Amino acid sequence: MCGIVGVTGVGDALPYLLQGLQKLEYRGYDSAGVFLTDASGKNELIKEKGRVSKLAEKAKKAGFNGTAGIAHTRWATHGNVTVENAHPQKSANDRFFLVHNGVIENYKELKDTYLKDVHFISETDTEVAVQLVNHFAEEGMSTEDAFRKMISMLEGNSAYGFLLVDAKDPETLYVAKKKSPLLIGVSDHGYAVTSDAAAMIDLTKDFVELRDGDLAIVKPDSLTIFDANGDAVNREPFTLEIDPEDTDKGAYPYYMLKEVDEQAIVARNIASHYYDEDGNLQGIGCAITDKMKEADRLYIVAAGTSYHAGLVGKRYFEQWAKIPTAVHISSEFAYDQPMLSEKPFFIFLSQSGETADSREVLDNVKKQGFPALTLANVMNSTLTREADFALPLLAGPEIAVASTKAYTAQVIVQAILASALGNPGFDLKAELAKVAVEIQAITDDKEKFKAIAEDALADQHSAFYIGRGLDACVALEAALKLKEISYIQTEGFAAGELKHGTISLIEDGTPVFALLTQKKTEGLLRGEVAQVAARGANTIVFASKSVAKEGDAFVLPEVNELLMPLLAVIPTQLIAYYATLARGLDVDRPRNLAKSVTVQ
Ligand code: F6R
Repeated sequence: MCGIVGVTGVGDALPYLLQGLQKLEYRGYDSAGVFLTDASGKNELIKEKGRVSKLAEKAKKAGFNGTAGIAHTRWATHGNVTVENAHPQKSANDRFFLVHNGVIENYKELKDTYLKDVHFISETDTEVAVQLVNHFAEEGMSTEDAFRKMISMLEGNSAYGFLLVDAKDPETLYVAKKKSPLLIGVSDHGYAVTSDAAAMIDLTKDFVELRDGDLAIVKPDSLTIFDANGDAVNREPFTLEIDPEDTDKGAYPYYMLKEVDEQAIVARNIASHYYDEDGNLQGIGCAITDKMKEADRLYIVAAGTSYHAGLVGKRYFEQWAKIPTAVHISSEFAYDQPMLSEKPFFIFLSQSGETADSREVLDNVKKQGFPALTLANVMNSTLTREADFALPLLAGPEIAVASTKAYTAQVIVQAILASALGNPGFDLKAELAKVAVEIQAITDDKEKFKAIAEDALADQHSAFYIGRGLDACVALEAALKLKEISYIQTEGFAAGELKHGTISLIEDGTPVFALLTQKKTEGLLRGEVAQVAARGANTIVFASKSVAKEGDAFVLPEVNELLMPLLAVIPTQLIAYYATLARGLDVDRPRNLAKSVTVQ
């Protein structure tokens, strides 16, 4: 988590840094800071609690633009949210300034061993790193050597994206990366360093992706990269295919609403990428499908919303491709690996392609020699680069912390991939075209969900989503969406489990949303709705057309039953959105969360 950006040689540094931070705010928004310098050695450190906009005000008042600088938006790991704990952190003699994304596991030991007499201002692991650089510099090392030495002392699962400035050599940026993503933007007039390329697209679209163990020295007119062995290497930049307008919210009040609305277009974009004009599949490649067909079991590994998309995808791989499929939470799998089949094939699902928990699993399975495919929205990300194969989700930039269109894209791409391995028994391309039309129809009906959310959830502390089969999978996602942005404690689960304990939580007026799109469980689910209603619950049923009854809150249009999660999830996203608005909260920036979770 946390966002890092730095520039040198680009003229006025501050506007680029602030703009970059605004775009990185989704990675953390507890506090932010910027360190600016120029060739004469003049410098300024500005930090602020809260949003980047507050930092921007303070920085503009300070009136110094600098010609180089580093900046950071924080998602707290070590130490509370305070100005002191915000980055950049500095050495006690004001010589070195450092921003960091990641976690230093042995920072206490390092502090006790080398820095006993140093006065610390913050509680952060990052301050230990910058004081350590200074410690080695004071012993006579060059800045580069001191930086290297500090990095060599980080142990265990430590992860870092570092960006260091030495006030004595003010326009040079020292950069290092392990596990946390870091890219160098290359332009005709200077360089940028960033944890997400999208933050620097106003400067350049050409980026060099750093690899684990890399250390780079970036000067206004030169870039030198050393690999993990210390050898100078030449890395070719890639060009980011992104339209700056895609990262704008346009006339929308929040990114989340824009992204919910974009789902019909996303469905169409995915279809036009993966099907040619004659309806034949394209863009997947035999190398992938052959390897998958050899497997005796697929393992889908993911976190949060992506994990929920995996639960849906499992049905496609099992029912169409006839390959047994297990779905695992990456943070669990990483440290508690289940017994694997003889010929496993791994599928990593990720919006960001940077989730540290998933990356840990990828690392582990690669060491065991198993093949892996990543389905990610951000291509050129760590998970896409490090897997044997990668396929794009094509949802376009997802900025709101709550994932919506990436979920939809993950479900669709899994369906298409499964159809490349086995026959769904219907025309998937035609059905996906229908899905796109119906998503559009549901999102056009927003006012209905606004009214339901305001009525049912504005004053509630808890809520439930229930369903059976595929509807239970959507219920999990629906509950996560509602709780993460509205802070209403919401449980999503298999409706049959109610009677085994949870039904005791139902009180007068407790909102229970029921999802009903699977015909064979219609009767059972109606029974469960009746049971909670009899205990006072406020039941709100979203049912597909052929099973809908009078009194249901919304009738979902119908597509193939296995694709119904793509429609059933849309009302739940809108419910979460409007409930959050009704409670006066920031939809796009829920507390304590970050979009890209790059710490374990
Ligand atoms: C919830 C949400 C998260 C992510 C999870 C995995 O709305 O977005 O639960 O799904 O952090 O992230 P990715 O998909 O980037 O690996």
